[in-house]
Amino acid sequence: MKVSPSILAADFLNLGEAVDMLNASADFIHLDIMDGEFVPNISYGFPVVEAVARRAAVGLDAHLMTVHPDRWFGILAELGVGMISFHQEAAGRKTSSYIAAIHALGARAGVAIDPDVPISRLFPYIGKADFFLIMSVFAGFGGQKFIYDSLDRVEALRNEIGKRGFDSDIEVDGGVDLSNAAALKEAGATVLVAGSSVFRSPDPAAAVLALKKV
Ligand code: DX5
Ligand code: ZN
Repeated sequence: MKVSPSILAADFLNLGEAVDMLNASADFIHLDIMDGEFVPNISYGFPVVEAVARRAAVGLDAHLMTVHPDRWFGILAELGVGMISFHQEAAGRKTSSYIAAIHALGARAGVAIDPDVPISRLFPYIGKADFFLIMSVFAGFGGQKFIYDSLDRVEALRNEIGKRGFDSDIEVDGGVDLSNAAALKEAGATVLVAGSSVFRSPDPAAAVLALKKV
């Protein structure tokens, strides 16, 4: 299992240490970009992404929870972010062109959806997007409880991807911890995002490694 810990839950006064810890334990570093409009919260912006990028030795995985996500693809790619995801709810009919725009910048493109969006809304992008980001909480805040319906959604998407002969990654984000990670793997998830369960753990590096071993 690949693990992409979200630094939203890290101690921002010690962000360098958090990045060093993830360099030694994680597959990717998940960056939650919120604009206060697509979601009712603001996280952090590009100066923070730039600082993390300077220190990171593993790939960066940016999750845009913004309106007009396409405004930010260029700067993220320039900062060295290799995985860029945006919400289908924010992109609408422009979803395919946004995927192409991310590819043109040399990054992997992901399409994200909140728990209340039908999973079939992602089906047209199978074979176009490199990965899908299934929210297992409503986007906007760390530390929420995992929504169990997400397991069926992951499984339905995995089946559809398989039926069409593709092998895209499915990343699951929100309330992920050791109590649901095995079921997520079973359902077809290949990348787990974890914020609180890593950074609220007494041993964050061990928490990352435990998720990887699932
Ligand atoms: C929520 C973010 C998540 C969040 C995960 O809007 O997209 O990435 O930080 O944090 P936990 O693991 O605490 O739910
Ligand atoms: Zn996220």
